[in-house]
Amino acid sequence: MVTALPALSPLEDSLFLTLCCRALDNRSRQPVLADAMADQIVRALAYDYDQLHIDKNLMLSVALRAKKMDEVASRFVARHPDAVGLDLGAGLDTRSIRIAAPSTVDWYDVDLPAVVAARERLVPARGNAHAVAADVTSPGWLDALPTGRPAVIVADGLMGFLTRDELVSLLDRLISHFPHGEMAFNSYSRFAIWATKHYPGTRSVADLLRFPGFDDPREPEGWNPRLRLVREILLSREPELARFPRALRLYNRLAARSTATSRMGTIVLHYRF
Ligand SMILES: C[S@@+](CC[C@H](N)C(=O)[O-])C[C@H]1O[C@@H](n2cnc3c(N)ncnc32)[C@H](O)[C@@H]1O
Repeated sequence: MVTALPALSPLEDSLFLTLCCRALDNRSRQPVLADAMADQIVRALAYDYDQLHIDKNLMLSVALRAKKMDEVASRFVARHPDAVGLDLGAGLDTRSIRIAAPSTVDWYDVDLPAVVAARERLVPARGNAHAVAADVTSPGWLDALPTGRPAVIVADGLMGFLTRDELVSLLDRLISHFPHGEMAFNSYSRFAIWATKHYPGTRSVADLLRFPGFDDPREPEGWNPRLRLVREILLSREPELARFPRALRLYNRLAARSTATSRMGTIVLHYRF
């Protein structure tokens, strides 16, 4: 039986682009992420992903950036079993299941109310996983979350929809709520924002992008004095590229020779505070 969902706005609907990329990756011969739950949700919805015009490049980039954020979260909760995990703009992603977050970690999936209602119909409840219905740009939603515990915060596919000022004040509020932690999000150079607005595979989100992009991964260190760059993860230099089809592998190997060219593609930025 097909699961029906509440009506979603175009912004909320953007969750299907990333969800379908992960589902299609799971169906490929050599998955990068192997997200069986994404595949299961797309099947339960009988979602018509052909309308999204997802190509292999987009599918692999989305799967690989999710894997890089999983690695940050997974290493953090292994070192801090008392941690709090936050997935901002979580959509229908099930990161806490993928990384098998220990039961001592409280995990918060934050998204707009209609998306949280959809999540409740599709994602099995787990004791330590909590859905938070909130606009991350509004003050106040963090008050319901524990303080005094280390936090790992990921945002996969969210930042492009925020203005620079909204992102800066979101980071300020997160950093002042928790004693210390790490965060990882996919970011965009100014060129990557332009490219996302013009690339056929991201047509469905082109008009929703509000972030201008930035080229220097250390720029956020100037936004908040507690923020320190751990690593700029350029996907073109990651070992999983060995699993990419030949043409994409060669393209990325060439791009990997130059940091500037690699920044034209997908980047995950990892910070501590
Ligand atoms: C491209 S989707 C990514 C979803 C998920 N992270 C994934 O990887 O599948 C972006 C998500 O951000 C959510 N979002 C956008 N703006 C938001 C805001 N201001 N507050 C909370 N969620 C937001 C959307 O509803 C959507 O679910």
